[in-house]
Amino acid sequence: MIISSHITGQLHTMLEPHIQKGGVYVDATAGGGRDTLFLASHVGAAGKIYAFDIQGEALVQTRARLLTHEVTASVDLILDSHAKLDAYVKAPIDGMMFNLGYLPGGDPTVVTRGESTCEALDKALALLKKGGFISLLCYTGHPGGMDEYRAVSAYASRLDRHMAQVVEMRWSNSPQSPPVLILIEKSISYPM
Ligand SMILES: C[S@@+](CC[C@H](N)C(=O)[O-])C[C@H]1O[C@@H](n2cnc3c(N)ncnc32)[C@H](O)[C@@H]1O
Repeated sequence: MIISSHITGQLHTMLEPHIQKGGVYVDATAGGGRDTLFLASHVGAAGKIYAFDIQGEALVQTRARLLTHEVTASVDLILDSHAKLDAYVKAPIDGMMFNLGYLPGGDPTVVTRGESTCEALDKALALLKKGGFISLLCYTGHPGGMDEYRAVSAYASRLDRHMAQVVEMRWSNSPQSPPVLILIEKSISYPM
């Protein structure tokens, strides 16, 4: 099967072969912890994960999910906006995942926003190693979701094509408001 209707699962399948043992990765939106666990499960004991969320409840859920698995990687859970990435992460990173929108089962008014997401993207691109990736799962059905998608898509479309490759993948026949995956990969020939 090439395409899964399970969007997070599709993304994990695509990214899994590219997660480096001992790598440094950022989960920009920890939420329920699925992406943090995915990253932490693949980097091994020498790996490092930074997971951001602005809601304490999300970090509680993420910590609980990590505890139910044998994760040997070092994971920092950071209660702050991903827009402050550079205050916490100083080393070059191999990849960063954004799963935009709101915490499932949580307050639907606490959502990611285009302005802070693009600020985080600026900082992530500066830290990203050659060959590293940034993934953004954009949901367009909730209030503000389409505006955020448009802002992020416009930002990514303007990136220098010598610096990064950018693709968008849309679940076009979803019944309402198709989600969109934006993938950015930094060129291996680009001087950092
Ligand atoms: C769709 S959920 C993430 C799902 C998660 N990746 C998972 O695997 O379960 C989006 C999360 O982004 C968080 N969020 C909203 N604005 C944020 C910001 N500026 N910085 C970091 N997290 C933010 C929300 O609190 C919410 O928990």
